[in-house]
Amino acid sequence: MVDQLDLLLGVIFMASPMLGLSPCSSDGQIALFRSCNLTQIPWVLDTTERLLLSFNYISMVNATSFPFLEQLMLLELGTQFAPMTIGREAFRNLPNLRILDLGQNQIEVLSPDAFQGLPNLLELRLFSCGLSSAVLRDGYFRNLSSLARLDLSGNQIHSLHLHSSFQGLNSLEAIDFSFNEIFTLCEDELKPLQGKTLSFFGLKSTSLFSRVSVAWETCTNPFRGMWLETLDLSSNGWTVDITGNFSNIIRGSQVSSLILTHHIMGSGFGFQNIKDPDRDTFAGLGRSSVTFLYLSHGYIFSLNSRVFETLKDLKLLNLASNKINKIADNAFYGLDSLQVLNISCNLLGELYNSNFYGLPRVAYIDLQKNHIGVIQYQTFRFLENLHTLDLRDNALKTIHFIPSILTVFLGGNKLADLPRIRFTANFIQLSENRLENLSDLYFLLGVPQLQFLILNQNRLSSCQAVQAPSENLSLEQLFLSENMLQLAWETGLCWDVFKGLLRLQILYLNSNYLNFLPPGVFNDLVSLRLLSLSANRLTALSPGSLPANLEILDISRNQLFSPDPGSFASLRFLDITHNEFVCQCELIPFIIWLNQTNVTLLGSLTDVYCMYPDSLLGVSLSNISTKDCDEEEALQSLKFSLFILCTVALTLLLITTLIVIKFRGGCFLCYKTIQRLVLKDKVRSSEPSTYRYDAYFCFSSRDFEWAQSALLKHLDAQYSSHNRLRLCFEERDFIPGENHISNIQAAVWGSRKTVCLVSRQFLKDGWCLEAFRYAQSRSLSDLKSVVIVVVVGSLSQYQLMRHETIRGFLQKQQYLRWPEDHQDVGWFLNKLSGHILKEERGEKRSNTIQLQNVVTTIS
Ligand SMILES: *[C@@H]1O[C@H](CO)[C@@H](O)[C@H](O)[C@H]1NC(C)=O
Ligand SMILES: *[C@@H]1O[C@H](CO)[C@@H](O)[C@H](O)[C@H]1NC(C)=O
Ligand SMILES: *[C@@H]1O[C@H](CO)[C@@H](O)[C@H](O)[C@H]1NC(C)=O
Ligand SMILES: *[C@@H]1O[C@H](CO)[C@@H](O)[C@H](O)[C@H]1NC(C)=O
Ligand SMILES: *[C@@H]1O[C@H](CO)[C@@H](O)[C@H](O)[C@H]1NC(C)=O
Ligand SMILES: *[C@@H]1O[C@H](CO)[C@@H](O)[C@H](O)[C@H]1NC(C)=O
Ligand SMILES: *[C@@H]1O[C@H](CO)[C@@H](O)[C@H](O)[C@H]1NC(C)=O
Ligand SMILES: *[C@@H]1O[C@H](CO)[C@@H](O)[C@H](O)[C@H]1NC(C)=O
Ligand SMILES: *[C@@H]1O[C@H](CO)[C@@H](O)[C@H](O)[C@H]1NC(C)=O
Ligand SMILES: *[C@@H]1O[C@H](CO)[C@@H](O)[C@H](O)[C@H]1NC(C)=O
Repeated sequence: MVDQLDLLLGVIFMASPMLGLSPCSSDGQIALFRSCNLTQIPWVLDTTERLLLSFNYISMVNATSFPFLEQLMLLELGTQFAPMTIGREAFRNLPNLRILDLGQNQIEVLSPDAFQGLPNLLELRLFSCGLSSAVLRDGYFRNLSSLARLDLSGNQIHSLHLHSSFQGLNSLEAIDFSFNEIFTLCEDELKPLQGKTLSFFGLKSTSLFSRVSVAWETCTNPFRGMWLETLDLSSNGWTVDITGNFSNIIRGSQVSSLILTHHIMGSGFGFQNIKDPDRDTFAGLGRSSVTFLYLSHGYIFSLNSRVFETLKDLKLLNLASNKINKIADNAFYGLDSLQVLNISCNLLGELYNSNFYGLPRVAYIDLQKNHIGVIQYQTFRFLENLHTLDLRDNALKTIHFIPSILTVFLGGNKLADLPRIRFTANFIQLSENRLENLSDLYFLLGVPQLQFLILNQNRLSSCQAVQAPSENLSLEQLFLSENMLQLAWETGLCWDVFKGLLRLQILYLNSNYLNFLPPGVFNDLVSLRLLSLSANRLTALSPGSLPANLEILDISRNQLFSPDPGSFASLRFLDITHNEFVCQCELIPFIIWLNQTNVTLLGSLTDVYCMYPDSLLGVSLSNISTKDCDEEEALQSLKFSLFILCTVALTLLLITTLIVIKFRGGCFLCYKTIQRLVLKDKVRSSEPSTYRYDAYFCFSSRDFEWAQSALLKHLDAQYSSHNRLRLCFEERDFIPGENHISNIQAAVWGSRKTVCLVSRQFLKDGWCLEAFRYAQSRSLSDLKSVVIVVVVGSLSQYQLMRHETIRGFLQKQQYLRWPEDHQDVGWFLNKLSGHILKEERGEKRSNTIQLQNVVTTIS
């Protein structure tokens, strides 16, 4: 009963809003007078339920101080900045008071009758009040028939001689004497509590038994006849001897949960002079029905044989944060009921088959934050009830020892690959390892029953063998943040990695260097609700690339420059902050969508800003005016009238185009053959030239293989007698040992044209950009264009524009794009040769070439 009321009160007091209530005022129920410089109890309405008076200067409370407040349940009168006197029956006008908080007052005078007249008081807080042992000895708490919790921690109590009136406190549950200096505690002192059941008895940090020598024979059991749920004896500086003697004297008293943390038992690392606990240390607890034993934060180095032998009822043993390095044979012998074993944060380096003998019921073993490098194969296999194994933050390189259990934590180890063991887990955590091979991911995705798979912060990037993904898996959540899936996907492989994950609901792919999403990669994810693609390098989302039922999308910190609002149709939440929007008219539909959408936008709108053009850099999209683009809309009506006309024309064009596209390779061959027949060899009777080379081909050395097979072999005379051009390129024609700049200069000036193969690598290569600059400056001085730019790969106009050197060129002149369809290559090469051989006249602009109608650009 008391418990439930308490809980209810607690909930009311905690949850009730004090928002809106100005300080030093009252709303009838709550009177909030904290820090109001009060020296007396203020007048409040008699409907007040909570009176909050901490941090004032009230120095006197007596029977006339309070008006009659029948409703008052909570009085907070702690932390007064003046020495306090509390007179007789000081609170008698508050007959329904439940909680009285007087903590952190300097109580100078406390009447023995101060707390009389409080029959409903549940909780009395008298922590840090400078009270002496007299407060226990002299019956201050008599008649408090409802009192359940008494907090006397942090006072100057040296002896726990209790007044006989404690006997009458029939509701007493929890009593806290922590942070007093109580050097001894003997049987007769707590006599008034005999026969009681207490949920908590606090003696933390009291120097109990450790400062003075104790006459254990005469002192005998202070807790005789009591049932204690939790006995807190932590931070008392107990050695093995004291613990042993204490467990001997309390023989028979019931203590469910014994807290002995922050002890000084054990030899520590590198010492021998202090004992580790042995068979006798806890033997006395055998009949106390200890269920939870907390021994964390100490110096135990070696778990000796049979050290917990008598603790037959123990269910939880916490040995965390000791220095455990050795587990002797049969260390856990006798722990027949143990379910949770916690040895985290110790110094274990290896585990042997015999380490966990004697734990028939253990279900959860926490071994995180040790230094475990090897585990013998059988170590966990005979633990039939084990379902969770936590091995995070160790030094494991293999996991062949994993038994058939449900939950496995293996994060923060050194796993570089996984043996193909039979997993039965439904939760596998493998983050912060060194997994690289996607075949391990496929293997894990094939684990039957697996529901949660966490692989954040690995190096998943390599994909060779194409593996068959398994169908209808149970996986619900997959975490792949901070891997390198881009490297795998850009090889064109492993695009089916999410195939068959029909039940997947949550997928994290943030920070994977992704600059594209493989087409259809999310097709099977029909249940997916949350997808994070944050912190990648995506520049666009093609329509239909997102899962159909997606509700929450995080695509912040990418490089989207003009997203299509149609992609976000199914969403409820979207984070699209910190992208690189190009604020031109094409972005208008998105800007309007942002302004109108019902989708909840996460993050601040000021973080949705323009990246280009420079004049709008950093301006929030919500501040962009759409007016300048309105003219386009005026054109709409005109456009419609043209629509009919265009449709007809387009249909005709389409048919022609279709024929050409389908057979253009063949057409081109025919054309070439005819040209050769008609013009014979006249075309290429290359007139003597002033140039040493026809063209200097400038490309990144990483592209050499490709350039050689795709271009050089088909153009350069030295590769084949069919070819006519004399080409120059670094790998063959640069003079070794010569300064690289001089080589470039010579090549640029010694060639009719400079052909730049602009690829991703080119843009990263300082020498390439340097060569481009030289060629450009030659164009300026010759007053004719000598530069031909061929864009290779999926670089978008926008990505090109970001490079200052290239931007200047592209703004004035056009460039060639390497065709994506193989059948266009012949035609392209012919065109390129034409450009190389064409003599530009000064002033005249380079011929514009538009290949966009033939090639489909994927960005
Ligand atoms: C309390 O007194 C201090 C110092 O005199 C003053 O700064 C502060 O504003 C006063 N607080 C109230 C609520 O009156
Ligand atoms: C009670 O305290 C007030 C000041 O708060 C004081 O004036 C009064 O004399 C006190 N009454 C008794 C009986 O001490
Ligand atoms: C309070 O306790 C005293 C002595 O312990 C007793 O005489 C008195 O009757 C009690 N008062 C109430 C209201 O129970
Ligand atoms: C523990 O008890 C034994 C036997 O009474 C005694 O000899 C020893 O000194 C005690 N140890 C401590 C630390 O009190
Ligand atoms: C083991 O103990 C540590 C430290 O007390 C704690 O953080 C961790 O949660 C515990 N593990 C379990 C399974 O209770
Ligand atoms: C990746 O795993 C597959 C299958 O186990 C294997 O064939 C391949 O050699 C591995 N690749 C690397 C780089 O280890
Ligand atoms: C897997 O799919 C098959 C047919 O596609 C179906 O019969 C079977 O019940 C599914 N299994 C599960 C666990 O959903
Ligand atoms: C956003 O919508 C409001 C009304 O819905 C409109 O007044 C405002 O001009 C719009 N802003 C933009 C940038 O479209
Ligand atoms: C937003 O919600 C309102 C009411 O629920 C609806 O009328 C409106 O069409 C929705 N707008 C969009 C863009 O979905
Ligand atoms: C829009 O611009 C005005 C003036 O420059 C500024 O005060 C306002 O905060 C901006 N609004 C947003 C959402 O950025």
